[in-house]
Amino acid sequence: MTSLITGGTGFLGASLAREMTSKGEKPVLLDIAPNTRIIADVGDQVQLVRGDLSVLADVINVVRDYEIDEIIHLGGVISAAAEERPLGVFGVNFNGTLNVLEAARLFDVKKVIYSSSMAAYTTEGAPKRVREDWLRDPPTSYGISKVFSELWGLYYSRRYGLDFGALRFPTLIGPGRPWSTFAYASWIIQKAALNESWEIPVPPEARSPICYVKDGVLAIDALRRIHNPLSRIYNVGSISPSAQEILDEVKKSVPGAPLIFKPNEKVTKVIMSRTPPDLDDSLARQELNYSQNYQLATIVTDFLKEIAEHRAIYT
Ligand SMILES: NC(=O)c1ccc[n+]([C@@H]2O[C@H](COP(=O)([O-])OP(=O)(O)OC[C@H]3O[C@@H](n4cnc5c(N)ncnc54)[C@H](O)[C@@H]3O)[C@@H](O)[C@H]2O)c1
Repeated sequence: MTSLITGGTGFLGASLAREMTSKGEKPVLLDIAPNTRIIADVGDQVQLVRGDLSVLADVINVVRDYEIDEIIHLGGVISAAAEERPLGVFGVNFNGTLNVLEAARLFDVKKVIYSSSMAAYTTEGAPKRVREDWLRDPPTSYGISKVFSELWGLYYSRRYGLDFGALRFPTLIGPGRPWSTFAYASWIIQKAALNESWEIPVPPEARSPICYVKDGVLAIDALRRIHNPLSRIYNVGSISPSAQEILDEVKKSVPGAPLIFKPNEKVTKVIMSRTPPDLDDSLARQELNYSQNYQLATIVTDFLKEIAEHRAIYT
C-alpha cells in the first residue's frame, strides 16, 4: 500500500513520515516547499514530490504516478498565517481539500484522512471540554476552512463511497514546531532544550489546549486502521497546563534554562481573550481504540530526549 502525505515536510507531516518509515512504509510526501532538513534522518526512506495542492493537476499527477492508495491530507496554511490573508490562502485551504477529494475519486483512492482543528469550534460559551457535536460557527477563516473541508469529505463519503475521516487536533507541540501565537508552549520546551535564551511572550497563567505531536501521529495511525469509522470525525484529546506549569516541569530537567516571562501585548491579548476549550476524546477512544500516551511530564521528557538525539535538525 502506498500512502501520500500532503504537507509532508511540515511539522506534523515530518513526524508522521518518521513513524511510518519506522514501520517499513515508504510514504510519498507532497509539499509546495519541501523542507529536506526536517526529514534528514529519513530522507532515503520517503519519496519527495514538490507540488501545489491548489493546482488540481499537481495533485492528480502525484496520485496517478505513485499509484496512491491512501491520502493523509495535512497540507495547508495554518491558523495565524491564514488569518493574515484569508483570500490568499483560499486556494490551498479550501480548493486544496477539494482537489485531494477529487483526485481520490478519479483514481479510486480508498481512504482520505484530514487534519482538522479545534479552530472548527465556537469558543464563546463553550464548556470546559467539548465533544464533537459542540457548535461549529468559527470566528476565523482558518476555522471555516476546517469545517468546509470536513463537510466536503463527508459529502464524498456519502456520494462516492470514499472512506473519509478527520481528526480535530488541539495545538500540537513538539520538536521543530514553527512559531505561531499558540506555539509558546512548544517553544518553552524547545528553547530550554537548546539552551537558547527566550522571553516567554505570555503571562505565567496563560493556558491553551495542547497535545504532543507523537499523540497526534498515534491518532492518525488509529484512524488509518479503521475502515469507514462510524462517526468519521474525532477530537484528539488535550491538556491545558499553564505556561508556568510547563516551565516548572522543564526546569526539573534543565534547571538553568535561560527563559523569563516577558508578556507581549499582542500575543497575550490573543491568548487571554479566546482560550479554546479542551477537547474530549471519548469518541476516539471508543471507536478508534485511540489512547493518549503523553501527559505534561512525559511530553517534556520525550521532547528533551528527541532534541538531544537530533539536535542538528532543530538548530
Ligand atoms: N500544528 C498544529 O498545532 C495543528 C493543530 C490543529 C490542526 N493542524 C493541522 O494539521 C495540518 C498540518 O499542520 P502542521 O503543523 O504540520 O503545519 P505546517 O505549516 O508545519 O505544515 C504544513 C505544510 O503544508 C505545506 N503547504 C502549504 N501550502 C501548500 C500547498 N499549496 N501545496 C502543498 N503543500 C503546501 C507547507 O509547505 C508545510 O510543509 C494542517 O492542516 C493544520 O491545519 C495543526
